[in-house]
Amino acid sequence: MKKGFTIWLTGYSGSGKTTISEQLYQSLTAREIRCEKLDGDIIRQHLSKGLSFSREDRCENILRIGFIAEMLSRHGVGVIVSAISPYREARNTVRNKIANFIEVHVSCPIEECARRDVKGLYQRAMSGEITNFTGISDPYEAPLDAEITCDTARESIDESTDKILRALCRMGII
Ligand code: PPS
Ligand code: MG
Repeated sequence: MKKGFTIWLTGYSGSGKTTISEQLYQSLTAREIRCEKLDGDIIRQHLSKGLSFSREDRCENILRIGFIAEMLSRHGVGVIVSAISPYREARNTVRNKIANFIEVHVSCPIEECARRDVKGLYQRAMSGEITNFTGISDPYEAPLDAEITCDTARESIDESTDKILRALCRMGII
């Protein structure tokens, strides 16, 4: 059986987590590697429905996603998580529970994320309509020791995806 793994994409809203996760999913599927995506936005409509964006609820969300990721990856699935996961402590907690855990910092200056403003959330956060918005009115603790950093203001989605695929090959995981 192939080794399972968890790619954990962390970064600001609009940094490119979901886009990279989808591209990675396509590339892995094309190589006949069984994988699954766990996206914060989707998980919050189901498993984490009703959770707020308080520190406590964000950490609870991460622990729930980590629980599923551990279970799937233990059964040989390649799990791709895309969630802001702003707190280092919560990320380290899940890291310590999951074998073949690869943290990817999807790094993009907040000014660039706000300029993209794909969902119009930054405008609403800056006007005060949305409170506790990551990077504007809520903290984001950037990883200190991520296995991979994808600088999406400088590199294309293809380049970021390739970087992750190459790391998986180098680590003997795929
Ligand atoms: S967390 O912090 O990991 O629990 O967040 P996550 O589960 O990834 O959910 C992030 C998505 O929720 C939307 N959204 C917000 N993000 C940050 N702060 C606030 N206050 C907020 N309110 C709503 C937003 O669409 C995020 O999706 P992405 O894909 O990151 O843009
Ligand atoms: Mg997203």
